[in-house]
Amino acid sequence: MRLLASSPVRIAASVMGLVILLHFLATFTHDGYARATSLQRFTQSSSETSKSVQNPSIPPSHDIEPLPGSEAYPSSSYTRVNATFVILCRNDQLWDTMRSVREIEDKFNHKYHYPYVFLNEVPFTEEFKYRLKTMASGKAEFGLIPRDHWFQPDWIDEAKASKSREKMQSENIIYGGSLSYRNMCRFNSGFFFRHPLMEKYKWYWRIEPDVHFHCNILFDPFRYMEENNKIYAFTISMIEYEATIPTLWGHVKDFVKKYPQYVAKNNAMGFISDDGSGDRYNLCHFWSNFEIANMEFWRGEAYMKFFEYLDSQGGFYYERWGDAPVHSIAASIFAPREQIHFFDEIGYEHAPYTHCPKEGDNWEKGKCTCRPDNNFDFDGISCLNKFQNFMKS
Ligand SMILES: *[C@@H]1O[C@H](CO)[C@@H](O)[C@H](O)[C@H]1NC(C)=O
Repeated sequence: MRLLASSPVRIAASVMGLVILLHFLATFTHDGYARATSLQRFTQSSSETSKSVQNPSIPPSHDIEPLPGSEAYPSSSYTRVNATFVILCRNDQLWDTMRSVREIEDKFNHKYHYPYVFLNEVPFTEEFKYRLKTMASGKAEFGLIPRDHWFQPDWIDEAKASKSREKMQSENIIYGGSLSYRNMCRFNSGFFFRHPLMEKYKWYWRIEPDVHFHCNILFDPFRYMEENNKIYAFTISMIEYEATIPTLWGHVKDFVKKYPQYVAKNNAMGFISDDGSGDRYNLCHFWSNFEIANMEFWRGEAYMKFFEYLDSQGGFYYERWGDAPVHSIAASIFAPREQIHFFDEIGYEHAPYTHCPKEGDNWEKGKCTCRPDNNFDFDGISCLNKFQNFMKS
């Protein structure tokens, strides 16, 4: 722990800060560009529609022969798994969200038509709903997050919370000064799977605005999870900033002592604790902006008790606990290790990091656009190696 908290992590933190600043600046120019081109598209669309009506010889897309290698191409009788995409986003992220949905449609969902649930703490605009419905090949639903699932609870000592935000901001900890980031982390930790629009599903695939899917996905990951009895899947795993969770592990240990009955046999504690005993947390976690997981695990007794215990400690606000370590620690302790899965096949980018398929001929089969040599899997702060070695052990 001491080693991990020293300078390499701090350097990584400042580099990440810089990248985020650049990204922020780039978004401004990008949005202007998106607005300009969207108008063009708007005027084009009516003539394109009439063209395809006038030319019935163009076959509807489902008549086109699947390409060789796409053997998983589902027939029209394909039965979807009980699953949905979930995207937490704001109205001002419309075009970043459009691009993410466009990519997952192109690479996967145009063949499967899984539904989408969009969630927001304010109502979505009519334009947001219209654009995303146009893009989604499955049903799109738009939900408002209940107030008490999002905002800081009254029992949090605001003076203490704001002092912590100021301190973290002055220490340049990423999102250290942000209250809305904290709301989001708490929501993603304990509430998204209880939203009325989410309750009717078992599986979810979390997507964020402005992410990229680099490869054709030639199978149904939801079906893979269901048929192989998985509960949690990831593509990127890394070291957490210790300054955001100074007391988290202590509370985890207290919880486990209080409720030993929830600890799974053959769990993945050895992945998150280097000596395997759970004495110290090695800060490894699954990067939760990509997740495919079973919500029945989050809704179950062990996780709900765990979340409520952590929430009652106030660390989502007094520190800056992320949903990534919270989910990862829970999956690693309350589930058997073989229920956690790494999807090498899914090329995924959330700036500044990319997972690019590298096992066997996954890159070739997926016709990926990511550079295999620019792969976060090999990065010094990646935990993938540790995960894979642990799974082999
Ligand atoms: C899907 O899963 C949810 C939650 O587990 C369940 O309530 C619902 O009945 C399931 N739907 C179907 C069609 O099986």
